[in-house]
Amino acid sequence: MKAKQVILTAALALAALGPAAMAQTNQTDKVETKEQRDARMAWWREAKFGMFIHWGVYSVPAGFYHDKPVAGIGEWIMNRGKIPRVEYQAFAKQFDPVKFDADAWVMTAKNAGMKYIVITSKHHDGLAMFDTKASSWNIMEASPYGKDPLKDLAAACRKHSIMLGFYYSQAQDWNNGGAGNSWDPNPDVTMDDYIDKVAVPQVREILSKYGEFPAVLWWDTPHNMNYDRAKKLYDAVEKLRPNIILNNRLGGGFKGDTETPEQHIPPQGYPGRDWETCMTLNNTWGFKRDDNNWKSTETLIHNLCDIASKGGNYLLNVGPTSEGLIPQPSIERLAEVGAWMKINGEAIYGTTATPFGGELGPAVKAKDGYGHDTTVSSANDWRCTSKPGKIYIMIFNWPASGKFELPGLQSKVKRAYLLADHKKLKFERTESGVTLELPAAAPDKIASVVCVEIGDKTAKVAGQK
Ligand code: GLC
Repeated sequence: MKAKQVILTAALALAALGPAAMAQTNQTDKVETKEQRDARMAWWREAKFGMFIHWGVYSVPAGFYHDKPVAGIGEWIMNRGKIPRVEYQAFAKQFDPVKFDADAWVMTAKNAGMKYIVITSKHHDGLAMFDTKASSWNIMEASPYGKDPLKDLAAACRKHSIMLGFYYSQAQDWNNGGAGNSWDPNPDVTMDDYIDKVAVPQVREILSKYGEFPAVLWWDTPHNMNYDRAKKLYDAVEKLRPNIILNNRLGGGFKGDTETPEQHIPPQGYPGRDWETCMTLNNTWGFKRDDNNWKSTETLIHNLCDIASKGGNYLLNVGPTSEGLIPQPSIERLAEVGAWMKINGEAIYGTTATPFGGELGPAVKAKDGYGHDTTVSSANDWRCTSKPGKIYIMIFNWPASGKFELPGLQSKVKRAYLLADHKKLKFERTESGVTLELPAAAPDKIASVVCVEIGDKTAKVAGQK
């Protein structure tokens, strides 16, 4: 059979099997070897901790419409308040972030121990936070600011060795004719027009204007996406930046590289998949002036340990004001997390999941940051991460007995020490594992870390694979 005939026969055979089989021919996963994937994901797996930034025109109303608070997350105010397009667009005239200092933002992230930033280049309201030819609804033309803040941010990230990624709302666009606007839709634009004339060209633009960045493209809410629409976006990205990291929210069946649990930490992580919990510092992503429900530094550090112990990354959000300032309560908490990371960061960066597992406890029902049902780990005494030849024990509740058991650890222990002072700890092999002898007082009241150097590359634990 000639090649052409083979293809024709194969296509006919698939067609005979019906639409389900035809759909399987859609390519929805990147074609690459494990080695290629590992190389592509390497910086991200090492980084572990990143800053999410939700910033746009929604920081002007800041949660209020006609002086009344609008319930829900701040960047959704146009939707939740059913604000007509013309009225919403008028907010841009007050969007003049003269206090925006890209260096200061990047240093806030860096001093927190974060290694990457993902910022909204366009959220669901459709305002491009960059110079674009595809729509006049952009920060250069619609706001008095008239500058591209992503350019400054890219330069600052480059200067301070922080990786930069862009969030891009590819499906929902309430001003340019994309999905999601039921209260004042643009009658002149179809979803396909929007994809062809706004989304695809803008994705090309953001991939072409900032040198080596973005290193991540963070899609969101794939409403009304189908394979054909998603494929256009996917192909545009593949062509310009084949090494980029894509999340799992493109839609159309595309798997992407990372799972993105939102506002919660899955009880067991996603074994075999890269994943990243994104979470707010208060209740909102985009700035709301009446949201003061800040998470404690203790919660943030415990979350970071919990996520790392399950093999994930933590993408923690700040929502800057319309003046361009990261809220002070965010800055304070991030600085405290950074102080902890300075001493204990080696237990987080470049680590993989716990070799134990029992310390997570059985999964229990809980509510996520939106009040939706979810499940979380039930136990909160300690967490563990791994590196070749080492495990890190992150202790939240310091034992009054001064003894701490590593349950079922079979690997030979070479040395154990606290990251706080590097002084050697005594340890003893028991029938059920290895017991560490700890000083009377915890060096850190939130989480104290013991590094245990072991004789195996990967810890051997009884009852674990
Ligand atoms: C969502 C929301 C959004 C936010 C995002 C962050 O799905 O639509 O406003 O940007 O989650 O993960």
